[in-house]
Amino acid sequence: MCGIIGYVGNKYVDSVLLVGLERLEYRGYDSAGIATILEGELDIRKKEGQLKKLAESLNLKPLGGNIGIGHTRWATHGEPTEINAHPHTDCKKQIAVVHNGIIENYQDLKENLIKEGHVFESETDTEVIPHLIEKFMDANLEKAVCRAVKELKGAYAICVLSEKEPDKIICVKLGGPLIIGLGNGENFVASDIPAILPLTRKVMYLKDNEIAVITKDKVKVMNLEGKIIEKKVETVDIEISRLDKGNYDYFMLKEINEQPRVIEKILHERIKNSKIILDEMNLDKQYLAKVKRIIIQACGTSWHAGMVAKYWLEKYAHIHTEVDVSSEFRYRNPIAEGDTLMLAISQSGETADTLAGIREGKSKFVKVLSIVNVTSSTIARESDGILPIMAGPEIGVASTKAYTAQLTTLYLFTLYLAKLNYILTEENLENKIEKLKQIPDAIDKVLKKQDIILKCAEKYYQKRDFIFLGRGVNYPNALEGTLKLKEISYIHATGYPAGEIKHGPISLINQDMPVVCLIPKDELYDKMLNNVQEVIARKGIVIAIATEGDKKIAEIASDVIYIPACQEDITPIVTAVPLQLLAYHVAVKLGCDVDKPRNLAKSVTVE
Ligand code: G6P
Repeated sequence: MCGIIGYVGNKYVDSVLLVGLERLEYRGYDSAGIATILEGELDIRKKEGQLKKLAESLNLKPLGGNIGIGHTRWATHGEPTEINAHPHTDCKKQIAVVHNGIIENYQDLKENLIKEGHVFESETDTEVIPHLIEKFMDANLEKAVCRAVKELKGAYAICVLSEKEPDKIICVKLGGPLIIGLGNGENFVASDIPAILPLTRKVMYLKDNEIAVITKDKVKVMNLEGKIIEKKVETVDIEISRLDKGNYDYFMLKEINEQPRVIEKILHERIKNSKIILDEMNLDKQYLAKVKRIIIQACGTSWHAGMVAKYWLEKYAHIHTEVDVSSEFRYRNPIAEGDTLMLAISQSGETADTLAGIREGKSKFVKVLSIVNVTSSTIARESDGILPIMAGPEIGVASTKAYTAQLTTLYLFTLYLAKLNYILTEENLENKIEKLKQIPDAIDKVLKKQDIILKCAEKYYQKRDFIFLGRGVNYPNALEGTLKLKEISYIHATGYPAGEIKHGPISLINQDMPVVCLIPKDELYDKMLNNVQEVIARKGIVIAIATEGDKKIAEIASDVIYIPACQEDITPIVTAVPLQLLAYHVAVKLGCDVDKPRNLAKSVTVE
């Protein structure tokens, strides 16, 4: 993770770097720093904590200059202190480096460099890089960087600035994402497009083992042997307004409220004359019809979306489906044959574990279809085909609109396979599509119930533990509910399949324990009601997410948040929303920084 940025041109570099870093803060916010060159001298400013502390310091005493690099950190090696903040430098403080990723062999490198007389200041893995460059600096900077990176093992994206060659930024990518932005008399480099979007829409994507030398008038890209590589220049078409909070206090709240429109957009793009259109899949129908097994691998919220999809794929498409957390998948020696399809789900398309899972699958000749939000991402580029979820940029660290967009896309994919395999008739398919079209309206109605959810949050925000229960398709949503609450409010929560509580978690229930029960009207309603009674019998506080008109639940639960009636298999797309709002309002009541929860980052590019 971590966000890196570089600028060279005629603008005042402090502000270009700060604006860019603000848009990269979702990648980490433990500390921030910049290095610039003014009148041939390298100067560095860094601060522990969020970017605003660095901004305050620069306001009081700017660095200045027209060339610089910047970094916002998510700590891996070394605590989030000022000393460990990037940029890091060599012994003479002439070379500055910002880095995203992990240098796995840094300890060996550091020991050798120390023996050779280099003096280290920080506990980071990154600091070996400027020292290695310094060691090889007998030729020019470009060659020294190439020689230095050949010593590194791990995944990284780095930017280098040196007062010896003060007109250029050199960057190298292996693993971590790096995008070069092209301007008029100015050029940029960043971990992600939003960082440079206000200033240019023309970009080039660096590939692994490519090095770029960036000056204000030129960008030269080479491989590590120095062979020039011609890069394609692409134009980005993200609306800038989608990167702002608008009138909302937090991006998360804005994104929760965007959900009905996102789902409408997906349905508009993907359904034409009652047919499901999934053109970008790049997998032909003959191949898909032969798929006998699906392996889904993903992390965090995307993993929960995969868990819901398993219920759908097995029920409607009759395809055996396994779901793995990516960080486990690649270490369990999964068996994959020619009739296995891998679905990789990732909002960012940069999650290191998910990417490693894809590579593992591809090494076994499995085709990979990725469900991504960022279509220019590494995961999108390395997959055989993609299904974009069309949610637009998601900035809040806790994923919301991407989740319901993933669910909608996965449901459409399931119906597509079910139709292809002659399991769903034309009429059944049309009926299911009609029901799906009611979902945006159902979510709009839930969004109008914010008062009720806020009151609920006010009642329980001081509790230190929560339990979330669900059954069937709503069991993964119980896990998603706990994840939202834990991520942004730091309240401990555990999620369980409701039928399983009697095997352990029921011992936790007493008059102090809020238990969020997902109990929409579906085929498991009666079973779920029994579990709710079990909670009440132990004096637990039941917060029910139930279907409009369910009076039975209102008589026994402490609080009820109603959702409109909808087709039972797709209720998770709607029940997710009150869970998101509950977590949001609890976190706000507790005074937490909703968009930047401690220790987390939006894009997790380390394994
Ligand atoms: C991080 C984020 C989560 C996200 C997970 C997977 O943990 O904080 O919100 O669900 O990564 O990310 P991906 O981009 O692969 O969906």
